[in-house]
Amino acid sequence: MKEAAEGRVPTGVAGIDEMLGGGLIAGRPYVVSGTTGSGKTTLGVQFLHEGVKRGERALLVAIDEPPAEIVRSLGWDVGKIRILDVHPAAKAFSKRVSLVEVAAQRSVGSLREAGPSAKTEAMKQASPEISVQSLQLMLKQELGEVRYSRMVIDSLTSLKKLSENMEDMNSSIMSILRFISESGVTTLMITDLPDPTVLEPEIFICRGEIRLHKRMVGNRIDRCVTVEKFRGSAHDTLPRPMAITEMGVSVDPHRKIPKASLKMLQAFTQYGR
Ligand SMILES: Nc1ncnc2c1ncn2[C@@H]1O[C@H](COP(=O)(O)OP(=O)(O)OP(=O)(O)O)[C@@H](O)[C@H]1O
Ligand SMILES: [Mg+2]
Repeated sequence: MKEAAEGRVPTGVAGIDEMLGGGLIAGRPYVVSGTTGSGKTTLGVQFLHEGVKRGERALLVAIDEPPAEIVRSLGWDVGKIRILDVHPAAKAFSKRVSLVEVAAQRSVGSLREAGPSAKTEAMKQASPEISVQSLQLMLKQELGEVRYSRMVIDSLTSLKKLSENMEDMNSSIMSILRFISESGVTTLMITDLPDPTVLEPEIFICRGEIRLHKRMVGNRIDRCVTVEKFRGSAHDTLPRPMAITEMGVSVDPHRKIPKASLKMLQAFTQYGR
């Protein structure tokens, strides 16, 4: 196993570590953004798997469906990744693939009028006690008992849908983000692509953002990755080609994306305009 650069946390993807100038800075929160199917959960599981390979404790907070397909297709030994079973399906999942389940005691929050999302409705019906506040309590209890080095929240987008209303969302999301940011655990917070016209709280709380891009070219999927920001470190400012195989996510940090492809990135900031 490659030695990590001083004070840096290897992501599990050597090419991304190189783009970050050696890896993530330990103990900070990061955003991993991208559209559906762009590889966010795969990267998250890979990051946790890298930790357990190094003898670290790693926690997956599964608010979306647990990554059953990904784990099956990659065939990694995920037995040591612990899962906080926020999603009702996570319990069954953890038994099948032997992720170690976290027996966190849930505090019961009130369930008032639900938001508009059908997915959220289904989640609330199956597991009505979950709210952002109760999740924060579960997390606090778990992090108080076990010294985790790595954590993945999959996803913040779904977490926000657990909020009861906008006002509640703003204060409870700020509170849990602050808690995560002060926990000292290197955390990947997975989100859909942020709306560029809205300053999402995670974007100013996080230390950096890794964005995964995907587009169809004929019948092939073209993927690339950008480091949108990385506070406190120099980083690669170019998009780099990415692939997902049975080995997980891989990135070639030395190859450039053809110019013509740049403006076709689904979500670009400084590129291709
Ligand atoms: N073994 C494999 N070989 C090639 N591609 C794969 C393999 N396993 C998974 N994939 C691709 O990776 C994608 C998985 O992405 P993943 O679920 O990590 O995306 P995501 O960004 O988390 O999506 P969502 O937002 O829907 O949760 C699949 O859509 C598939 O195209
Ligand atoms: Mg996912």
